[in-house]
Amino acid sequence: MTVTFKSILIVSTVLISVASADFSSFITPVTMSRYNFKREKVDTEFNLDDKDYKQSLVVLSFPGLLLSIFLMLLGVIALFLRNCITCGRRNKSEFEEDETPGADYDTGSIISEYQPSKDGPTSILLKIVKFFVFLIIVTTVVGAILGLASNAKAGKDLDNFFKNMNIMANNARKTSNNLVHAFAGKTDITKTILSSLLPLTTEMNNMTQTTHRVLVEETNLNHLRESITIMGYIIAIITCAGGIFGVANGKSWSFMFLSYLSLLTISIILLAMAMHIPLSAASSDFCNSLDQYVDNDVKPSWMKKWINCETDVSISDAVEFSQGEIDKLLKMINLFSSAYTNKTYTTSNLLTLKLDELRAVIPIDQVSLFDSKFDAKTIPVILSVPRLQNMAKCQFVKDYFNYTRNNYCGEVIENVNRMVISEILIAVIWIPGFIFAVIYSKDKRIINNENNNNSNNNSNNNNNNDDDSQAHRSS
Ligand SMILES: *[C@@H]1O[C@H](CO)[C@@H](O)[C@H](O)[C@H]1NC(C)=O
Ligand SMILES: *[C@@H]1O[C@H](CO)[C@@H](O)[C@H](O)[C@H]1NC(C)=O
Ligand SMILES: *[C@@H]1O[C@H](CO)[C@@H](O)[C@H](O)[C@H]1NC(C)=O
Repeated sequence: MTVTFKSILIVSTVLISVASADFSSFITPVTMSRYNFKREKVDTEFNLDDKDYKQSLVVLSFPGLLLSIFLMLLGVIALFLRNCITCGRRNKSEFEEDETPGADYDTGSIISEYQPSKDGPTSILLKIVKFFVFLIIVTTVVGAILGLASNAKAGKDLDNFFKNMNIMANNARKTSNNLVHAFAGKTDITKTILSSLLPLTTEMNNMTQTTHRVLVEETNLNHLRESITIMGYIIAIITCAGGIFGVANGKSWSFMFLSYLSLLTISIILLAMAMHIPLSAASSDFCNSLDQYVDNDVKPSWMKKWINCETDVSISDAVEFSQGEIDKLLKMINLFSSAYTNKTYTTSNLLTLKLDELRAVIPIDQVSLFDSKFDAKTIPVILSVPRLQNMAKCQFVKDYFNYTRNNYCGEVIENVNRMVISEILIAVIWIPGFIFAVIYSKDKRIINNENNNNSNNNSNNNNNNDDDSQAHRSS
C-alpha cells in the first residue's frame, strides 16, 4: 500500500520539477524554420498583412494538426480491427456472450483475471500495467494543472496587452480632444491651431478605433483558443477518471469507453498544441519587433496599420504653439487668483484650484471674461501639456511598447510554451494508454473463457488492496 503512496510522491516530484523548468529555453517554436505553402523559406518578421508570413504560421500548426488527424485515423483503424477480431472470435466460439458485452455476468476485474495463473511473469506484468496506468494518470493530472494555470495566465496577458493598448490610445484621444475643446473660440488664432491640430486629433481617433477593433478580434480569437484548450484538458481529466474506472471495474466495455475517450483526448490536445506552436512563434516574432522599435527605432510594418506614428512637422508646430497658449492660460489663472485669493498656481498644485470658488470671488464685471477663458476642461488641458509633446513624437506609443515588452512578452511566450509542453506530455502518454485500453477491451474475452467465475469476489479491486488480495488468495 505504501508503495503506491511513495511512487505518487516520486512521480509528482519529478513532474513538478519538470513543470517549473524554464520552458522558453526548453522549447522554442520561434526557432523553427518558417515555410510558406510553396515550401519557400519565410522571414520571421511579424507581419500579419504578409501572406507568406501568415502561411508560415499555418504551416507551424501542421505537425499538431496532421498528427491529430493521423492518430485519429490510426485509432479508428485500431478500433475497427479490434472489433473485427472480436467478430471473428464471435463466429468461432462466443456468439452468445458477445451479443451483450456489458452484461452482468461480466464481473471479473481485469486485474484479477490475470491472477489465477499465479505465475511470476503475470504478476510482474500486472504490476507494470498498474504502475503504467498510475503514471499516465499522474502525468495527465500534473500536465493539465500546469496547462490550465499557464492558459489562464497567457490568456489574461494577451487580453491585457490589447486592452491596455486601447486604453492608451483612448487617453491620448481624450487629451487631444480636450485640447481642441479648450481652444475652441477662446483665442484669436484658434482656427489656425485647430487646423494644425487636426492631423493629431484624427490620428488619435483613428488609433482608438483601430486598437478597439484589434482588441475585439483578439478577444474573440483568444476565447476560442481558451475554449479548445480548456476542453482538451477537461477531457484529459475525464479520461483519467475513465482509466481509474476501467481498472477498478475491469469490464471490457469500460475499456472500450476508455479507448474512445483517450482517442478524443489525444486529438483535442494535439489540436490545442497545433494552435499554440504558431501562437508562441508569432508572440515571439511580435516581441522581437517591439525590441527593434524600442531599442533601435526600427518601425515594424504592422505598426503602420495599427498606429500611424509618422512624425509630422505641422503637428509638432501646432503642439508647440498649443503649449504656448496653454502657458498663457495658466498665467491668466494666476492673475485672477493672486489678485483675489492671494494664491498662485503651478502645474504641481493646479489640482487644488477650484475654478468655481475663484469665479465666485472675482468682480462681477470680469465674470464674462473669466467664463470665456476657463471651464471644467481647462485644468485637465493645462496638466496634459507634458503629454502633448509626447503624443506629437509618438513617444507614448514607444513607452507603452517598452512597458509591454518588459512586462508581458517573456511571460506570454513562456506560458504558451508551457502549454505546448503539457500538451505534448499528455498526448504522448495517452498513446500507449489508448493501445492499453484497446488491448484490454478485447483481451478480456480470452481470459474470461478460461476462468469465468473464478474471480468474482475481486471485482472491486483497486490499486491499493490488490497486493493484499493476491497474497490472501495464494495462501
Ligand atoms: C483616419 O481614418 C480615416 C478613415 O478611417 C482615413 O481617411 C484617414 O487617412 C486616417 N487618418 C490618419 C491620420 O491615419
Ligand atoms: C495677501 O498678500 C499680502 C501681500 O502679499 C499679505 O500681506 C497678506 O497677508 C496676504 N493675505 C493672505 C490671507 O494670505
Ligand atoms: C524601457 O523601460 C526600461 C525599464 O522601465 C527603461 O530602463 C528603459 O530606459 C526604457 N527604454 C526606452 C528606450 O524607453
